Amino acid sequence: MTLTLTTAGESHGPALVGIVAGLPAGLRLDREAIDGDLHRRRQGYGRSPRQKLEADEVEVLAGLRHGRTLGTPLALVIRNRDHESWQWGMSPWPPAGEKTGKGTTPVTLPRPGHADLAGALKFGHDDVRNALERASARQTAIQVAAGAVAKSLLGEIGVEVAGRVLEIGGAGSGWEEVTDAARADRDTLGGIVEVLATGVPPGLGSYAEKADRLDARLAAALMGIQAVKGVEIGDGFALARMRGSAAHDEIEPDRGRTTNRAGGMEAGVTNGQPVVVRAAMKPLPTLMRPLRSVDLESGEPGEALVERSDVQAVEAFAVVAEAAVAWELARAAREKFGGDALVDFVGAHAAYLERIAWPPTR
Ligand SMILES: Cc1cc2nc3c(=O)[nH]c(=O)nc-3n(C[C@H](O)[C@H](O)[C@H](O)COP(=O)(O)O)c2cc1C
Repeated sequence: MTLTLTTAGESHGPALVGIVAGLPAGLRLDREAIDGDLHRRRQGYGRSPRQKLEADEVEVLAGLRHGRTLGTPLALVIRNRDHESWQWGMSPWPPAGEKTGKGTTPVTLPRPGHADLAGALKFGHDDVRNALERASARQTAIQVAAGAVAKSLLGEIGVEVAGRVLEIGGAGSGWEEVTDAARADRDTLGGIVEVLATGVPPGLGSYAEKADRLDARLAAALMGIQAVKGVEIGDGFALARMRGSAAHDEIEPDRGRTTNRAGGMEAGVTNGQPVVVRAAMKPLPTLMRPLRSVDLESGEPGEALVERSDVQAVEAFAVVAEAAVAWELARAAREKFGGDALVDFVGAHAAYLERIAWPPTR
């Protein structure tokens, strides 16, 4: 059984869309839990006014009846309230009437650090907006909605996933001050987040092929989030500086461990310890004091586009990273435990735990 997510949607288009396939039938989804995570994603010090504008409530168009999944594709929609101001500029069809609102003037000054230049060259766009609208992290909203669904599924087998901020702008605390200082300089910041998953059974993922390794999949899931430039599994880079005697987690008689430097995975397979991953986010590339760029039309030097933007979005990133890890763990759990009905999935998990129980009962 494979869990898949297909998404569509531009930052200032009418809506974000997500189709989740591969859920078992009978899973109870909680609207407040999904909207609650969407709300968390919009929080954090240093966010732009857009976060206040967007309501971010999930609409479900298919795959759910009276709060329970049907085992059919689940169709999720989040409307972009900001589209109101972009109706002409982001109209899917040739717009009628006067040019009004935002997005009417083509963007020709790409922002360094964004998809702007590479995307315009790749797809042959004259208006950089055609690239930046989809590359924008606005689409992480639908990823967070899908992550909330994944967390509901994981909850059925006792797995909990939580993301938290470790650093913003190089600081381990005092985040409002560093953010205010960056804002005063019209600059931006990045940061580091950690995601912890508990209750993860041993045996998710595989070492059979590199694409099956759960560590590789989690790294890809996190790297797939906008602005992520580094991923660490367990003690990650610090392990490279240790001796083997200090780096590994010795196995105790009850098969448990007293350390978890491996971050809950060995050979790309979960080992029953909590899964611990960290990800590094670069400073946001839209600066209110714009970086140097070149006008793609005239070839003349200029200043990059300035568009409403966050000073830092690390708290939001922690929520997105949590969703990405939850999604990948749910995918691995679906592969291992399968089942068309939720009871089959939960039953397969229980039977597996019984088989690997220690000491063996039979
Ligand atoms: C939750 C979140 C919010 C973001 N908000 C902004 C923003 O307001 N302004 C901005 O310039 N970049 C923002 N970004 C980062 C850009 O989307 C990202 O740097 C850009 O897409 C380039 O991606 P890359 O670093 O993967 O190449 C945000 C990223 C995330 C994860």
